[in-house]
Amino acid sequence: MTGADTLALPAIPSFRLDGKRALVTGASRGIGFAAAAALAAQGAEVVLCARSGTALERACDALTSAGHRARPLVLDVTDLAAVENVLAAEPPFQVLVNCAGMARHGPFVEARPADFDAVVNVNLRAAFFLAQNVSRRLIEAGETGSIINVSSQMGHVGGVDRSVYCATKHALEGMTKAMAIELARHGIRVNTLCPTFVDTELVRSTLADPERRAWIMSRICLGRLAQLGDLTGPLLLLASDAGAMMTGSALVVDGGWTAA
Ligand SMILES: NC(=O)c1ccc[n+]([C@@H]2O[C@H](COP(=O)([O-])OP(=O)(O)OC[C@H]3O[C@@H](n4cnc5c(N)ncnc54)[C@H](OP(=O)(O)O)[C@@H]3O)[C@@H](O)[C@H]2O)c1
Repeated sequence: MTGADTLALPAIPSFRLDGKRALVTGASRGIGFAAAAALAAQGAEVVLCARSGTALERACDALTSAGHRARPLVLDVTDLAAVENVLAAEPPFQVLVNCAGMARHGPFVEARPADFDAVVNVNLRAAFFLAQNVSRRLIEAGETGSIINVSSQMGHVGGVDRSVYCATKHALEGMTKAMAIELARHGIRVNTLCPTFVDTELVRSTLADPERRAWIMSRICLGRLAQLGDLTGPLLLLASDAGAMMTGSALVVDGGWTAA
């Protein structure tokens, strides 16, 4: 066969993250911990952030015992002055996973301003300003990066008793698209990861309610809750060069919930 007949193989990008620094908020347990473990396993040096130092030490021990590079950062992401101080003392992060989140579910007509403010503060306001901070540092350093905002299938549909939570997750989707178009010229990609229900502390009371559990299982076409591991492949796609052409997108990992 002559050279002219040879079909060129496409360049297959890598999921590896060697040489990258990753900051994961809400990393002491649940989805954030799974994200930190996945990034570390691909070679990133991971900083795990949450408010509880004890829980963070335990999470970091699990990662370092497995031979990964991880360290704790005790930080309340809603404290914007503290966030600014901490990031000023750090080299830039090439990967940010905005995963810290909370919920105060209940009927729309009973939602109180204090509940609204608390959930918006963590799920949206803190994510916005942390992403702004990380982006500024990358731009100053002339480096590229990937920001992953952990949204939800509830960023695309409504859910029972979830008016406040849905408000924050739909807003994260819009914020992500707007950030993506501004940051693209700096080589910073911004996407959301949108899981269906995963059995974590956040949703334990919902899953314990037989009526709510039946609603959930009736909506997930694949017939099961997501496992933490189901989220790690999609997360790594967004974080790595494997997702180099993805920005402003929502990667829905919902077992078909929003397709129906
Ligand atoms: N589980 C699900 O079914 C599901 C589905 C879709 C989307 N999500 C989203 O996934 C994300 C993680 O949820 P999860 O289920 O893993 O929740 P989780 O198990 O309750 O974990 C929440 C994490 O966020 C941290 N956190 C909360 N407030 C914080 C603050 N102010 N500053 C810093 N860290 C804070 C918590 O640690 P400390 O309390 O020690 O600070 C913990 O590490 C959330 O954004 C959630 O909305 C979850």
